[in-house]
Amino acid sequence: MPKAAAPRVILGIGGGIAAYKSAELARLLVQQGYEVQPVMTRAATEFLTPLTLSSLTHKRVITSLFAPAGQPEATLASAIEHIGVALENDLLLVAPATADLLAQFAQGLAGDFLTTMHLAFPGPVLLAPAMNTNMWNHPATQANVALLRARGYHFVGPAAGELACGMEGPGRLAEPAAIAAAASALLDKKHDLAGETILLTAGPTQEPIDPVRVITNRSSGKMGYALAQRAQARGARVILVSGPVALSPPANVELLRVETAAQMYDAVMSRLAEVSVFIGVAAVADYRPARPAAEKLKKSVSALAIELEPTTDILAAVGRDKGHRLVVGFAAETGNLLGEAERKREAKNCDLVVANLVGAPGAGFEGDENEVVLIRRGQQPEPVARAAKTVIADRILDAVADLRARQA
Ligand code: PMT
Repeated sequence: MPKAAAPRVILGIGGGIAAYKSAELARLLVQQGYEVQPVMTRAATEFLTPLTLSSLTHKRVITSLFAPAGQPEATLASAIEHIGVALENDLLLVAPATADLLAQFAQGLAGDFLTTMHLAFPGPVLLAPAMNTNMWNHPATQANVALLRARGYHFVGPAAGELACGMEGPGRLAEPAAIAAAASALLDKKHDLAGETILLTAGPTQEPIDPVRVITNRSSGKMGYALAQRAQARGARVILVSGPVALSPPANVELLRVETAAQMYDAVMSRLAEVSVFIGVAAVADYRPARPAAEKLKKSVSALAIELEPTTDILAAVGRDKGHRLVVGFAAETGNLLGEAERKREAKNCDLVVANLVGAPGAGFEGDENEVVLIRRGQQPEPVARAAKTVIADRILDAVADLRARQA
């Protein structure tokens, strides 16, 4: 059997006194079998030499967006190297993450190789902050940290203790072993869904009233697409059955586009035999016009009654024919969240229901964040605090991986 490729880590190093600990961190990561690509800011090179890092990692250390003029590497290839590095690696780890780097990441600035490559990096980001206590406690730094956390960035540290500047308090870089362990946890999680075929429904459906009008809802598809992207990143084969949304499909995901609930049902059923995990995220219309008009309805009557008929419940149909499949549903509620979610879990024979309060501003439909409760048979409900939909997606997939492990 060919040897599995080693997970690849970009080790970004900011300009702070704690940069000297990054050499030990690089050594530990290499020892754990990871391929480590060091990237240093210009300020970092004042604290630690690139030669030290290249000796430990056996890689050329990247310190600039451009190779110096006149050198053979000063080509187009070197000018777009930040994209290649971003796409070829599994984790971006920044240690030390200085106050300046946190601010640049939060603002999306792209002034050097590290910050530019960070914008192009599609995978998980782990930040190990290190700075003076007052700088860490400053509202600007705390706001940047909160923003990055909400976007799904992972943090390790800072630890509290005596700092290089003589102050005591939070701001010390976490110990290299703790940072390496946090990196491993993210990298190992990455393939915990390998071998699974996950089919997700996402977005709204559109039910025609006439050739130009539809009944639909406010689902943007963001929750379902985040789940599809994270499931794919964690090693699953992903089939995404999507209603009409304005999102680009995640890379390496098979996309089946549909419009109506009936088309969504047909698409799901046509692929169900291949599927080990079904996740119904879509806001499927419960009713559709019984007789859509063949011609555009005229504005000639003062009141218009449209007769509606129920659609087929896709999740309930998958739950009836469950077999060894894991079935996950969502429950979008505006009240009695846990009661309604448990009722739906039982009625639709789901292993897990993600209860989603959709009345509250900033969560549920359309936004980039969500807040849910995981409901499983015979277990206490597990609240997942408000966070980016990608973060919520990972928590749901943690529960899926756990349920699959119990089934095995
Ligand atoms: O797309 P976003 O803007 O990111 O918003 C995310 C979301 C709010 C749509 C999502 O988090 C969510 O809650 N999805 C479920 C929406 C819904 O229709 O909930 P429900 O309680 O009406 O349905 C319960 C379950 O049955 C859902 O899994 C639904 O997909 C499924 N269902 C419902 C009707 C039907 N005919 N077929 C189904 O499969």
